[in-house]
Amino acid sequence: MIRAAIGYVEMKPNTILIKGPRIIDPGSGLDQVGDILVQDGNILAAGLVGDGVPDDCRVIDAGNLVACPGFIDIHCHLREPGFEYKETIATGARAAARGGFTSICCMPNTEPPIDNAAVVKFIQERSREDAVVRVFPIGCVSRGRRGKELSEMEELAAAGVVAYSDDGDPVYDPNLMRLALAYSADLGLAISNHCQDYSLFRDGVMAEGRVATHLGLAGIPAAAEEAMMARDISLAGLTGGRLHLTHLSTAGSVPLIRQARERGIRVTAEVCPHHLTITDEWVMGPGGMESGAAGLSSYDTFTKVYPPLRSQADVDALVQGLADGVIDCIATDHAPHDLSCKLDTYQDAAFGISVLETALGSALQLVHQGLMSLPEIVDRLTAGPARVLGATFDSLATLKPGTPADIVLFDPDLEWVVDTEQFASMGKNTPLQGTTLKGRVMATLVAGRLVYQDGQNA
Ligand code: DOR
Repeated sequence: MIRAAIGYVEMKPNTILIKGPRIIDPGSGLDQVGDILVQDGNILAAGLVGDGVPDDCRVIDAGNLVACPGFIDIHCHLREPGFEYKETIATGARAAARGGFTSICCMPNTEPPIDNAAVVKFIQERSREDAVVRVFPIGCVSRGRRGKELSEMEELAAAGVVAYSDDGDPVYDPNLMRLALAYSADLGLAISNHCQDYSLFRDGVMAEGRVATHLGLAGIPAAAEEAMMARDISLAGLTGGRLHLTHLSTAGSVPLIRQARERGIRVTAEVCPHHLTITDEWVMGPGGMESGAAGLSSYDTFTKVYPPLRSQADVDALVQGLADGVIDCIATDHAPHDLSCKLDTYQDAAFGISVLETALGSALQLVHQGLMSLPEIVDRLTAGPARVLGATFDSLATLKPGTPADIVLFDPDLEWVVDTEQFASMGKNTPLQGTTLKGRVMATLVAGRLVYQDGQNA
């Protein structure tokens, strides 16, 4: 199965030569076949490395592979503290390394939620001990994620959160959102809102439309997302705050963001691999309505996710928005769940998909279908998310000399079959189980340390 094996000679680990990959670095505009020289955890040179290569350095033969900055995921759920039976910081970080991610930002819907400095500190310490990639906590917008009063946003910023969100739930109260955005203008961190109007959402479990009607399941209208996005954009205009819109799923969300930008409003947006590649037909299984299962009205609870999988027209508009740069980046919304939460009726199953380990293979479908170029996809996984989060991430999203050697090597053409038994994530909840993806991570380095290689985590 492994087409381009990676061989290396263990000699002088302080200096590593990555030989012969196609180097794509949107941060410096580099796209060429060359070498990368890493010394003491930092990039010494990328492209033409010149004469300064020590004879005894460790060599990674990366001919036929793509080398780029490690991916940055600005939206994942690590479940620790509180739900360690679903995922831990250690397992989530190993899953990230397998997926090519070297920096991940974890959402605060933990127990306790990340709404004070002590929980931020816990996650930072646990990450230093257990995580093979860099972990950055996102703090709550509201105290206890209850949506009533603001969290101690300044204390959270001082402790090191990289954004604020009540993800899993929206910031429902418009005045609370207004205040949060006003503070975000001063603190320089984004408010990342999960847009979901409860009164439109009601008890919906999948996208409103033909498939929901066929299955007799309660639908969620596109307006549940778009109405709150329009509200948030208006509030960002009012306050001058930094608004980030999470997991776009509808065609109508894209022009809202485009128009907001044209009006000079500070808004960024992300889209998930599943919303770019699969539709609500998958609720009935990979063959959708076409499959034999359609007549039986069966469903796959691993497709249950918020926001829901939508129509092909929505998928097409989101891909176009990502290609145009209206949507800044791809984020996973990795949401691991234990099987008992998913082996249930569609109505009662938990929302969420385990995504970190399939994200690249899914995203590369857009390249293989000729919808986006490879450098564009790399940009949306590296420089794009760094632009959303700001200056802290600039040096982690490029291969410029002097920056940390966070690097992913992948084979864009290697086909592999998704097998959740092989996942490092404890979350086996993916509708992609058993499907073939084209494009696979071969190795991941964080600060020059090999944390994943060919099926094995460090
Ligand atoms: O499907 C989802 N699952 N969407 C969210 O916004 C939250 C997430 C979770 O925490 O399980």
